Amino acid sequence: MQNIVLFGPPGAGKGTQSKMLVEKRNLVHLSTGDLLRSEKEAGTELGLKAKILMDQGKLVPDEVVIGMIRNKLETNTNANGFIFDGFPRTEKQAEALDELLKELNTSISGMFALEVEDEELITRLLERGKDSGRADDQNREVIENRLKVYENETAILRSYYRKQEKFNSINGFGALEEVFNRLNSAIG
Ligand code: AP5
Repeated sequence: MQNIVLFGPPGAGKGTQSKMLVEKRNLVHLSTGDLLRSEKEAGTELGLKAKILMDQGKLVPDEVVIGMIRNKLETNTNANGFIFDGFPRTEKQAEALDELLKELNTSISGMFALEVEDEELITRLLERGKDSGRADDQNREVIENRLKVYENETAILRSYYRKQEKFNSINGFGALEEVFNRLNSAIG
C-alpha cells in the first residue's frame, strides 16, 4: 500500500494536488476538512459543533478527526493506499494514524510538505473566498489565525516525520502542473 501524507499550511494546494494524485495513482483521498464540511452541511450535531471552531480557524478536537479517519480506513479495506490531506495536524493525530495503519499491517510511505509563502497563501484564500462559501476564507484576520494555528500546532509534525525519515519538502509555488510534477517525482 502507498500511504501519503500531503502536508502544508492552509492554501498550500493540498486539496488541489490530492485530486490530481488520486487520478494518477488510484489512491483514496481522505481530507478531514472535507469530511467536517460534509457534517456541517448535513447539520449533524458533530458538524454544528465543528462549525464554530472551523469558522474561527481553530482546530477541531483530536478525538473527532481521529474517529473520522478510523471509520474511513475501516470502510476502505480494498484500497491501494490513501492520501491524507489536512490530517494529521497534531502529534496526537500523527501517533494515532501510525497506530491505525499498524493495525492494517501498513504504514506511512512518505510525508510531502508543500512550501508556499504566507502572502501567497493569503492571496489564494481570499481569492477563493469570493465564491467558495467557506466562512474561514472570508477575511484576512481569520486566514491569519489559520496560519498561526498551523505554525503553533501543526508545523511541529515536520520533525515528527523527519525523525522517521519520511519528510520531503516540495516547492508549492508555481503553476498547478509544475507543482504536480515536483510532487509526483518526489513520491517516485
Ligand atoms: P481544511 O479543509 O483542511 O483546510 P486548510 O488546511 O485550511 O486548507 P485548504 O483546504 O484551505 O487549503 P489546501 O492546502 O487544501 O489548498 P487548496 O488546494 O484548497 O481545514 C479546514 C478546517 O477544518 C480547519 O481550520 C480546522 O478547523 C478543521 N480541520 C480539518 N482537519 C482537521 C484536523 N486534522 N484536526 C483538527 N481540525 C481540522 O488550494 C487553495 C486555493 O489555492 C484554491 O483556490 C486553489 O485553486 C488555489 N491554488 C492551489 N494551488 C495553487 C497554485 N499552485 N497556484 C495558484 N493557486 C493555487
